[in-house]
Amino acid sequence: MKNQKHLFQLPEGIHYLNCAYMSPLLKSVEEKGIEGMRKKRNPISIKPVDFFTEANHLRTKYGRLINAPAAQIAIHPAVSYGMNSVINNIPYVKGQHALTISEEFPSCYYSAKRWCQKYGAELRIIARNDDLPQKGRDWNERILGAINRDTAFVVMASVHWMNGTKFDLEAIGNRCREVGARLLIDGSQSVGALAIDVQKYHIDALVCAAYKWLMGPYSTALSFIGEDFNDGIPLEESWMTRSNAERFDQLTKYVEGYKPGATRFDVGQSSNFIAVPMLNEALDQLLEWGIDNIQAYGKVLSAPLIEYFREKNVPVDDEIHRAFHLMGMQLPSHLDGEFLVGELQKRNVFVSLRGSNIRISVNVFNTEEDIAQLIAALES
Ligand SMILES: Cc1ncc(COP(=O)(O)O)c(C=O)c1O
Repeated sequence: MKNQKHLFQLPEGIHYLNCAYMSPLLKSVEEKGIEGMRKKRNPISIKPVDFFTEANHLRTKYGRLINAPAAQIAIHPAVSYGMNSVINNIPYVKGQHALTISEEFPSCYYSAKRWCQKYGAELRIIARNDDLPQKGRDWNERILGAINRDTAFVVMASVHWMNGTKFDLEAIGNRCREVGARLLIDGSQSVGALAIDVQKYHIDALVCAAYKWLMGPYSTALSFIGEDFNDGIPLEESWMTRSNAERFDQLTKYVEGYKPGATRFDVGQSSNFIAVPMLNEALDQLLEWGIDNIQAYGKVLSAPLIEYFREKNVPVDDEIHRAFHLMGMQLPSHLDGEFLVGELQKRNVFVSLRGSNIRISVNVFNTEEDIAQLIAALES
């Protein structure tokens, strides 16, 4: 795959290695947003059927990306919303605990914490051993070792948002299945750049912010929620999730039932006429590129950077345990991370500081020149 910079409009001279923060907007996605906004100039252009069709397209496309049936996809405004929707529906059995990993993203951590507080359960946190030069294998093993018959659920990332560790979801999913624990994955830092298969990995819920690797607008997230939750109680009661929603003339013929699948967990006004067409367009583009091609492009692009870090004795994990699109490099303790990131910015190189890592993330809008400029800036 060649770089796709021409499909974006990042200003020339900017080296944006920060898709993990937020993706730039594809030109085509921007067009859809403007089109969506203009539609409301004349409300007769928005038909009752439009409240549902575009949203259903989203379910189909996200389902294709992660190998899930469209009916099991819910539309959310944020990961916090999706995780809460799921965790609220996990029953507690005396003696159970919940499990997460160290420095898990707050939207997941707080949802798990709330569940634990409600039932007086322990939230077990499996830490990474930062003293090891290659940390991923050990971390994965310790996660696997901690999952047991008293684990109600595991909530964790597929790729760690701060350090780029790639977790062995297949092994973790198998272990969860074995002991009857639910597996809830935050895919915000991987779906769209790294292949994932909810069926193969036995994932019960996969929640994903859409403004990063899915290249959608802000305030959008997509969640796969497995069939076991199909009788769950949603966070809110929207008319749109009810079985009679399509009949605008009969909405007050109140019904008991929801639409089938995970639609009951949709946020109200899930048909957002600006955001939904934008995200649909973005998913079309991702499906056309192919996720494996995006990951392979990241591998090629990041290779000189990995070599550079190795030369500088910065620990780099083995290939199986790190993602190619998101790298968190632990800074030597004598380096002031904030100062370093500030200095890089002065040279038009944009990365993030997350904890003691500089987080570098690459996607198809990046070029070899971006990497060369990063290395040159780090050197100077
Ligand atoms: C791993 C991860 N999850 C979730 C989010 C966003 O969370 P929310 O959608 O709740 O704002 C981010 C944003 O940086 C993230 O890195």
